[in-house]
Amino acid sequence: MGRCPSCGQFNTMVEERMPDKSTPGREASAAPMPIGRVPPQRLQRMSTGIEEVDRVLGGGIVPGGFILLGGDPGIGKSTLLLQLAGSVGNRQPVIYITAEESLEQTRLRASRLGAEASQLFVLAEDRIQAIEAVLEQEQWQLAIVDSLQTVYNPDLESAPGSVAQVREVASRLMRVAKSRLPIFLVGHVNKEGSWRPAA
Ligand SMILES: Nc1ncnc2c1ncn2[C@@H]1O[C@H](COP(=O)(O)OP(=O)(O)OP(=O)(O)O)[C@@H](O)[C@H]1O
Ligand SMILES: [Mg+2]
Repeated sequence: MGRCPSCGQFNTMVEERMPDKSTPGREASAAPMPIGRVPPQRLQRMSTGIEEVDRVLGGGIVPGGFILLGGDPGIGKSTLLLQLAGSVGNRQPVIYITAEESLEQTRLRASRLGAEASQLFVLAEDRIQAIEAVLEQEQWQLAIVDSLQTVYNPDLESAPGSVAQVREVASRLMRVAKSRLPIFLVGHVNKEGSWRPAA
């Protein structure tokens, strides 16, 4: 506007940008709620079918649960989770994603464990984008990702297992978990007890 309609002066108007109220996530947040009013059915837990694991999880897997299974190399992380996947896979669709071992190796282990459940699906994949695409398919009730250090985003320059990659993969998988699908994620720990960077 050339002339100010209020004071009648010319060229006195100055553009000023308003803060963007449509910043993603700002208006979407729900109001805080007294904890006693959170509907209890939203906390319904899924049994893993393995009593000891259910106990460690406080009675089973909560919806949106994102569970990191850490441990020394060779301690039995993949074995335990494949057994768990087989157990849940007798009742509902489970996806076991391995970025470490071949499908044949996984199959062999599953037959040793008696974990060849009819609804257990396996996928050998290590790119986070491809993994997300599969996890977004609606049928899955539980997902296993083996492991945090071997899944990576090829668009980042750093190597799989580096701090940047681990942070990227963990946060992207967490977003998938929180949106609906419980995920078990394997994490390696080295002999000093810290998260192992890439070899
Ligand atoms: N509960 C168990 N009792 C005895 N042996 C086991 C048990 N769990 C796994 N093992 C054996 O230990 C070996 C290593 O197991 P597994 O590959 O599951 O470990 P991992 O923690 O996934 O190792 P990595 O860190 O190398 O991926 C396998 O030979 C497996 O058969
Ligand atoms: Mg393993």
